[in-house]
Amino acid sequence: MSIGHPELIAAITSEIATSGPIPFVRFMELALYHPQFGYYMRPPESGAERIGWSGDFYTSSDVHPILGQALAKQARQLDKLLGHPDPFTVVEMGPGKGLLAKHFLSACRTQADDSFSQRLRYVLIERSPAMRDLQRANLLHGLVEPGRITWVESLADLKPGSITGLFFSNELPDAFPVHRIQVEQEQIREIYVDYDGARFVERLRPLSSPAIQDYLARLNLSLPDGYQTEVNLEAVRWMAQVSRAIDRGLAITIDYGHTAQDLYGPDRAKGTLLCYYSQMTNEDPYVRVGQQDMTAHVDFSTLATVGEEHGLHVTGFTNQMSFLMGLGVEEMVAHMDPEGPEFRAAIHLMRPEGMGRTFKVLIQHKGIAAPTLDALAFKPFFGTALAVPSAA
Ligand SMILES: C[S@@+](CC[C@H](N)C(=O)[O-])C[C@H]1O[C@@H](n2cnc3c(N)ncnc32)[C@H](O)[C@@H]1O
Repeated sequence: MSIGHPELIAAITSEIATSGPIPFVRFMELALYHPQFGYYMRPPESGAERIGWSGDFYTSSDVHPILGQALAKQARQLDKLLGHPDPFTVVEMGPGKGLLAKHFLSACRTQADDSFSQRLRYVLIERSPAMRDLQRANLLHGLVEPGRITWVESLADLKPGSITGLFFSNELPDAFPVHRIQVEQEQIREIYVDYDGARFVERLRPLSSPAIQDYLARLNLSLPDGYQTEVNLEAVRWMAQVSRAIDRGLAITIDYGHTAQDLYGPDRAKGTLLCYYSQMTNEDPYVRVGQQDMTAHVDFSTLATVGEEHGLHVTGFTNQMSFLMGLGVEEMVAHMDPEGPEFRAAIHLMRPEGMGRTFKVLIQHKGIAAPTLDALAFKPFFGTALAVPSAA
């Protein structure tokens, strides 16, 4: 089996040859986001796609437009709560192929008798030029006036307090590069990546950053010997930046993940790092480097805590099934044939043994009183588990 994209392998091994073994987080950054050869940064080979039914993995928006429709419905409720601002800004970060944006914008156009779609400004944040090209191809077809839709490369490009409206993402922080750690003789050590001339090999080293220890300390975790897991420091920086960008409004984060208690519990003693290639998962990040996706589950407790520290308060935490039910999925599917493929696709997003429960939704608010939202009308069955366990 190929160890990966040849030029990318050359770039990574040359960095290792110069600086010695690199922390896994750096390896993952290069594998996914090396400016020329990274998985997300290269245009796909002709006719191929990364995300989608014929790609390496599919997302909710490949299945059915109801998630985009539900988000549009929540945006309208927020618009009312905010007093119909002009502009009402929607920022979507990590839009993939742009399908969710397409579904969202199409749903906004359905009620021609109000001013919402005229006041709407849609900003897509995407670091990959190849993905931006794909998004433009999917979006600039009269869905929205060209001046009302813009792209930026980084969240840092948005001015602090520039969002009055909604910030959202679907499957973004799971795609951030993560540090990987392992407990050895009660010490937390970090996984580094070395190259032995033919393959990448792992080495345990002292932590590359004190922020990893701070992250774990914040969670009061006690991990047993041999335990391996991931620490997503980029998600911490991201949450703080999201808060800075919002003046008044909501942040909605949809992704697969858990509360810290679950993520760092005994059931996940080998961590959650997973690779996707051609709709199959594997646990080996050292094959097909740059040719397969790599992800790690999201720690929603840390997102919630960091958000609170920066004035972005938790409105609620739910799963995709309850989120869609609260936003009226029943009405959205009412016209569909219950035996037909469209109905089955829509229901696929809600399945309690699948996407309905794996995907969690964290909603946070800033600059407004805690709102009562349709998205949170149905209580998820895991209760209030976001709270970080206190020290014994
Ligand atoms: C798994 S895909 C998201 C799929 C998409 N949201 C959907 O619903 O189909 C992750 C996306 O996030 C982008 N991305 C990752 N890190 C980013 C960052 N720091 N800033 C902007 N975009 C980023 C990737 O290039 C990719 O387009």
